[in-house]
Amino acid sequence: MILCHTVKELAQAVSQAKAEGNSIGFIPTMGALHEGHLSLVRAAQANQNFTIVSVFVNPLQFGEKDDFNSYPRTLGVDARLLTDAGVDVLFAPNLAEVFPADLDLAEPVPGSIAEKFEGEFRPGHFAGMLKVVSRLFDLVAPDYAYFGEKDAQQLALVKQMVSEQITAGRREPMRVVSCPTIRDEHGLALSSRNSRLSEAEILISRSLQQALLAGASAGKKREQILSAAKAQLSAEARLEYLELVDPQSFEVVEQLPAGGGLLIIAAWVGDVRLIDNLLIGG
Ligand code: PAF
Repeated sequence: MILCHTVKELAQAVSQAKAEGNSIGFIPTMGALHEGHLSLVRAAQANQNFTIVSVFVNPLQFGEKDDFNSYPRTLGVDARLLTDAGVDVLFAPNLAEVFPADLDLAEPVPGSIAEKFEGEFRPGHFAGMLKVVSRLFDLVAPDYAYFGEKDAQQLALVKQMVSEQITAGRREPMRVVSCPTIRDEHGLALSSRNSRLSEAEILISRSLQQALLAGASAGKKREQILSAAKAQLSAEARLEYLELVDPQSFEVVEQLPAGGGLLIIAAWVGDVRLIDNLLIGG
C-alpha cells in the first residue's frame, strides 16, 4: 500500500493507476476504521477497482459543541488494517493539503434535504461534509465512490451533488455506490464513535436498532410505527429525532409509501451521538 500525505504524492499514484488502465474506487473516511469501512473497501475491490481510502478528520463538518477534539484518531492502526485489506493507496493529508489558503473552490450548495433532521441538529454539518467530499473527489477523480447507508442523508446529498456537478460539466462521470449498514452481532450499527461507549452505554445503544425493528413490524401508519419504536428505545437514550420519511426526499410521510419508508433515528447515549435508520415496508 502506498501512503500519501500530500496532494502531489496522491496525484502521482492516481495518474499511474489510470495510465495502467485501472478504474479508481474511492472510500473517503475520517479514520478510526471498523468493519463498516472495510465492507466499503471490499465492495470497491469486488468491482476490480484500484482502491484509494482517505483518512481526514474534517473540521468543517463538526459544530462548536461537536466532538471534533474527541473524535478518535488512530492512523497507525488504520494503516495496518488497510494494508491487510489490500488497499492500494491511503491518502492521509493534513488540513493545509486539503484546504490550502489559496484554494479557489466552488462550494457545493446543499439542497433542501440538508435542512432537515441531521441538518437541523448539526447546523453547517452538511455544507462542511459536501465541501470536503467535493474537494477529495477533485483530487482523486474516482470512477466509483463508496458510502454506507447508515449516514442516509449524507449519502442522498452526495449523490445529489455529484449528479448536479456532472450535469453542469464540473465533474467527469462517476458513480456513488451505496453499501448496506454493517452491525455488530447485537444489531448496533458500527460507527467510529462506538469506541467511546462504555459497556453500560453499549447496552443502551442497542435499543436504537430494537426501536427501528419494532417500528418495522407495527403496521403502515406513521403514528403506530413511531409509537412502537419509541416504546423499545431505552429510557436512558436521549432522543433527538425519530421519524418516518420518504427515502428520496426525507419529507415526513403519514403512511408507508409503496416503495417503503425510511425510519430514521438520532439519540445521545452518554456523550456519544448515534444515528441509525431502516428501510421498512419496501
Ligand atoms: O462519513 C464520513 O466519515 C465523513 O462524513 C466523510 C464522508 C469522510 C467526509 O468527511
